[in-house]
Amino acid sequence: MQITVVGQGYVGLPLAIAAADAGFKVFGLDLNQERITLLSRGISLIEDLNDEAVLRNLKSKNYEPTTNPKTINQSEIVLICVPTPITNDNKPDLEALISATTTVGRNLKAETLVIVESTIEPGTCRNILLPIMLKESGLKLGEFEIAYSPERIDPTNKKWGIRNTPKLVAGLTDNATKRAEEFYEKFIESIIICSSLEIAETAKLLENTFRLVNISFINELAIFCQKMGIDITEVISAAATKPYGFMPFYPGVGVGGHCIPVDPLYLAHAAKSIGAPTRLIDLADQINQEMPGYFVGRAEEKISGLKNKKVLVVGVSYKPNVADVRESPVESLITGLKQKGAQVSWHDDLVKVWNGEESVALSSDFDLAIIATPHDYLDLLKLGNVPILNTRGSI
Ligand SMILES: NC(=O)c1ccc[n+]([C@@H]2O[C@H](COP(=O)([O-])OP(=O)(O)OC[C@H]3O[C@@H](n4cnc5c(N)ncnc54)[C@H](O)[C@@H]3O)[C@@H](O)[C@H]2O)c1
Repeated sequence: MQITVVGQGYVGLPLAIAAADAGFKVFGLDLNQERITLLSRGISLIEDLNDEAVLRNLKSKNYEPTTNPKTINQSEIVLICVPTPITNDNKPDLEALISATTTVGRNLKAETLVIVESTIEPGTCRNILLPIMLKESGLKLGEFEIAYSPERIDPTNKKWGIRNTPKLVAGLTDNATKRAEEFYEKFIESIIICSSLEIAETAKLLENTFRLVNISFINELAIFCQKMGIDITEVISAAATKPYGFMPFYPGVGVGGHCIPVDPLYLAHAAKSIGAPTRLIDLADQINQEMPGYFVGRAEEKISGLKNKKVLVVGVSYKPNVADVRESPVESLITGLKQKGAQVSWHDDLVKVWNGEESVALSSDFDLAIIATPHDYLDLLKLGNVPILNTRGSI
C-alpha cells in the first residue's frame, strides 16, 4: 500500500520510517527542499533516528523523500504532520496546517483516508480541515475518509517510542476509524479508539497541559525549597516512593519545545472562545515565563552582580540530548543576563550555531556557569573552579 506523510520533521519522519519498515511504500513529503535533499542522501536529521534506518528504507525503495505533492494522488492513506505553533499573541497559528490541508485536498482522490497527527484544538478536524478538503478536492462527504490520531512521540525517550506508546485513534466515521486502526496496528502495539475526533483532539491537549501545570508547580516548589535551604531533588525522590497518587516532575529553567509550552495555549484558546475558565493554564504559563528571570536573579545573587561578569550558559536546547531550540526558555535566560550587563557566552555542541552566535568551549575562563540544559555528553570538570548555578536543583 502507498502512503504519503506530509511533514518530515520530529513527528513525520519517524512515522514515515516506522511505516516503511512495516512494508508500506512511503512518500515523505516536505516543502523544505534542503531537508528532502539530506533525507535522500540518508541523513536522518533527528537525534534518535539513525541514518541506517533511513538508508535501509531508501535502498528497499520503501521510503521516498519528495517535495512533489502529486504523491498524495497515488496514496491510499495521507498523514498530516506539520507544525502547529502559536502566534505572537498566543493564538493557534494554523497557517502550515491549512496550507498542507489545502495541498492534500487539491491532490486527493476518492477513497483516500486522511489522518491528521498535528496537535490541534477540539473541532479543528471537523470544522476547519474537513471543509477545506471538501472544497479543494471537489469530492463529497463519504467519498474520502478523515481521522485524527495525535502524535505522542517524546524525542530521545529510550523506553517509550513510536512502536510501544499506545496510539489514540478517532475517525469521522466508523469506517475511517477501522481503516486508521488497521494501518497503525501494523507497526504500533496498542491502538486505543476514541469515540469522536474531538475526544482525541482534547486528550492530546490534556496530556501536555497536565505536564505544563505540574512542571510549573514543581518550579514554584523549587523556589520555595531554595529559600528554605531544602534540596528539591531529595524531596521529589522521597515523595516518589509513594506507590500511588504521585508522579514526579522535575524543576528547571522552564519548559520549551514545540509542544509543552504551546499546546496548553491551544486548550486555553478553545476554552476562552466559549467562556470557560482557564485559570490554572494561565497561571502555569505565567510561572513558566517567569522562570528564566528567576534564574537571572539567582545568578546575580550568587556572584554579587552581573555587570561585566563573564557568564557561560551550558545547554541551550529545550531539553537534554536534542538540538531543538524551539521555544527554548534559555533564550529568555540569556536575554535577561545580558540586560543585567553580563557578557554571556553559551556552550552547546548539539546546537552549535544559534541566533547568529556560536557555541564556545567549556573552560575555566568564566565568573559563573549556569547549567540550563544538562546534555549527557557534558564534561563539567572542564569548568574547573568556576561557580556553578544548576537550574535543575534548588541548592
Ligand atoms: N516535536 C514533538 O516532540 C512533537 C510531539 C508530539 C506532537 N507534535 C506535534 O506534531 C506536529 C508536527 O511537529 P514537529 O515537531 O514534527 O514539527 P517539525 O517542525 O519538526 O516538522 C514539520 C515539517 O513540516 C514541514 N512543513 C511545514 N508546512 C508544510 C506543508 N504545507 N507541506 C509539507 N510540509 C510542510 C516543515 O518543513 C517541517 O519539516 C505539531 O502539531 C506538533 O505539535 C510534536
